[in-house]
Amino acid sequence: MSLQTLFFSSLGVVFMSSALGANILAVFSCAFPSHLIVEISMAKVLAENGHNVTVITTLKPHVSHKNINLIYIPLTKEEQLSQDASIASMVERDNSNMVSALFRMRDQVSFAFKKNRNVMKDRRVIDLYENKDNQFDLVMIGYFLNDFQIGIAQKLKVPVVIATSMFQWEVFESMLGSVQAKPASFFSERLGNLIISNALRLFTYAIKLDNAKAYKELYGNDPSMPAYADLNKNVSLVLFNSYSFSEGPIRSSVPAVIEVGGIQIKDKPDPLPLKIANFLSDAKDGAILLCLGSNVKGAHLQPSTVKKMFNVLAKLKQKVIWKWEDLNKIPGKSENILFSEWVPQNDILAHPKIRLFINHAGRGGITESQFHGKPMLSLPVFGDQPANADKMVKDGFGLSMSLLTLEEQPFHDKIKEVLENPKYTQKVKAFSKLFRDRPLTARQSVLYWTEYVLRHHGAPHLQSPLVHMGFIAANNLDVYAFLTCISIFILSSCQFIVKLVYRKMTGNAHIRKLKIL
Ligand SMILES: *[C@@H]1O[C@H](CO)[C@@H](O)[C@H](O)[C@H]1NC(C)=O
Ligand SMILES: *[C@@H]1O[C@H](CO)[C@@H](O)[C@H](O)[C@H]1NC(C)=O
Repeated sequence: MSLQTLFFSSLGVVFMSSALGANILAVFSCAFPSHLIVEISMAKVLAENGHNVTVITTLKPHVSHKNINLIYIPLTKEEQLSQDASIASMVERDNSNMVSALFRMRDQVSFAFKKNRNVMKDRRVIDLYENKDNQFDLVMIGYFLNDFQIGIAQKLKVPVVIATSMFQWEVFESMLGSVQAKPASFFSERLGNLIISNALRLFTYAIKLDNAKAYKELYGNDPSMPAYADLNKNVSLVLFNSYSFSEGPIRSSVPAVIEVGGIQIKDKPDPLPLKIANFLSDAKDGAILLCLGSNVKGAHLQPSTVKKMFNVLAKLKQKVIWKWEDLNKIPGKSENILFSEWVPQNDILAHPKIRLFINHAGRGGITESQFHGKPMLSLPVFGDQPANADKMVKDGFGLSMSLLTLEEQPFHDKIKEVLENPKYTQKVKAFSKLFRDRPLTARQSVLYWTEYVLRHHGAPHLQSPLVHMGFIAANNLDVYAFLTCISIFILSSCQFIVKLVYRKMTGNAHIRKLKIL
């Protein structure tokens, strides 16, 4: 190694270590477990690599670390009850239609929104920026339609990184500069995509009105704070829970999009609890994992649906691990079924004996199944679940049916089909290979890009100029208008000149004739 490279590489080390041991504040107050799981997995990577991470949550996180300081602001009793009730009511209705599901989601959205706002009024949170002893270098915001929380980064005057369990869609446009509508070759598809894209922009606009109000309420009395409209222009980058290289859609994207899909999945699975390990070890025909997520508790299901599911599963050759909260009230007894209050879903999916994952089409579960190459039968209930299930089926990784209209025969037939037709397993195994093949793992990406933002003081150079441009400039409307004027001027000048020349050459009589023609 030459002296020069030695010098520069040691300089590199200095740059790297200037980012080490940063104080990071993470606001992960969204009261949905599926969001927290993804977001806190990102914080954990930072904690494990020497950063001091203060995390604000409203739910008990499933991970802990000595470098994670928790500010836990739990749901009140009433909040807990109202959330349970709204989930139960959604389970009772048919939400197979995406638009009506979104519409019904509004109770959930407004519940999460109110809690997010109340969290920012908590004394412990206000103290983070009012008490000058607190020093932070970076703020992470767990994003679920809560732009106003970015205000805390402005209070602390530090860069902000967005962490989200969602994928790229129009709501992120104001942070990224642009989100391209999914390209498609067929006219009807393009038309549909464009309509959906603009409907989502409209939805975003409505969300922003609420956010502006909350922002004013929380920070409006501080003249040093930026206008709400400028808040999102300070976002350095967005960590998305997706990986479009393998999942699609392939579209043009900006550097501030960092995709870390699968971040919640451990590099190496942990050993299974003894009971589950023993149960699986003598499953000579393979095994099925049935887990309907953390939001839909067994008790929300119709007893008749549970009975139907039990009848089908009890007759299978395969063993079944069924996540069930209340072990005093199990749906029935059968040799081949193990009810378990708590299941380490990811570790079980990694087990070679698992041949099918029956889930509720939450993004987390589908991603884990895809990561481990396990085919699925999805029973979507509400929110984004029907759409997730549709995509999974379209990708060829399994089948789907509504949980609300479940009948024994089709449930049985679909299980058989996914177990016995090898095409689903082949497809998902091929996907798994693609999904894991990346230049940086999901965990490395979180670490690298967060430290990049720290090293480069928010890395504003990474931003698309579109972030700071208005609608007219961003869409070149002024340029089109200018070019149209010029074209009209040139065309009418040409016409005038042609007429003039023609008249000179042929005389007036002809022109009159031409006009009549
Ligand atoms: C880590 O953050 C906490 C909470 O902000 C703070 O009290 C503590 O002093 C920090 N530790 C270090 C080593 O900076
Ligand atoms: C956001 O603001 C902080 C502090 O004011 C600054 O350091 C950072 O560079 C800004 N980030 C962007 C992307 O503009």
